[in-house]
Amino acid sequence: MKICFVVAMQAEAQPFIDRFGVAEEKDFFAPLPCRLYRANVNGSELDVVLNGQQHGSDLVGCEAACVATMAAIQRLQPDLIINSGTCGAFRKNGAEIGDVYLSNAVMFHDRRVPGDDAWGTQALGNYPVFDRAAEIAQALGYKMGKVTTGSSLDLQPCDAQIIEENKGELKDMEGAAVAFVCSLYQIPVLLIKSVTDLCDSGAETYEEFSRNLAMASRAVAEANARVIQYLM
Ligand code: ADE
Repeated sequence: MKICFVVAMQAEAQPFIDRFGVAEEKDFFAPLPCRLYRANVNGSELDVVLNGQQHGSDLVGCEAACVATMAAIQRLQPDLIINSGTCGAFRKNGAEIGDVYLSNAVMFHDRRVPGDDAWGTQALGNYPVFDRAAEIAQALGYKMGKVTTGSSLDLQPCDAQIIEENKGELKDMEGAAVAFVCSLYQIPVLLIKSVTDLCDSGAETYEEFSRNLAMASRAVAEANARVIQYLM
C-alpha cells in the first residue's frame, strides 16, 4: 500500500521524518511551496508532503492543505492519504494533552451557510474517512473522535456552537480540507491527530499550543510509525 502523509507544519512532521530518515526531494512540486520527503519502508514507497511556507512561516489552514493534497494525489497517486498533525480538544470529553486520536468523521465548523438544505450540507462537508480507522484504533489502542476544521486557531462562540451541535471532539485547521480533496478523487483518508491544547481549559490557546507542540509531534510520530507498520 502506497501511503502519503500530508502535514501542515515542519515541526509536526520532523520527529517522523527523523525516525524514517526520509530525504527531501527538493523542488519536486515547484512552483508550489509544498515539500516532498520520500522513503522506502518494507519495500513500499512512503511519502510525506508538507504544505510549505509563505511569508516566512509554515502554511497552516485549509487553502494550503487543499493545494498540498491535490498536488500529492496528482503527482504521487497514493492508495491512502494520512493527514497527521496536532489539534485542540475538549477536557469535558475526557481529552488530555498529548492524547492521540484517529478520526471517525470529519467536517467544517466555520462555514456558516444557513439552512438544512444542500447549501448547509455542503458547508459542513462531512466527508468520508478511511473505513479501517476503527479497526486500526482498536488494534493499536488509540482513541477515536470527530475532527472539525476551521481557519482559525482560536475558538469563537459561533464555531463552538457548531462543534457542540455536531458533537465535534477534535479541532484542527486542515483535516476537512484534506478530506474534501480526497473525496473528489475517491482516495481514502485517515486523520491522526495529537492534542496540543484543550479549548475549554481556560488557557490562552496559542501559548498552550506552542508549549506542547514538540511533545505532541513526538506522540503523533510514534502513532504514525505504528499505523504504517500495521498497514504496510
Ligand atoms: N491545532 C492545534 N490546536 C488547535 C486548535 N485549538 N485549533 C485549531 N487547530 C489547532
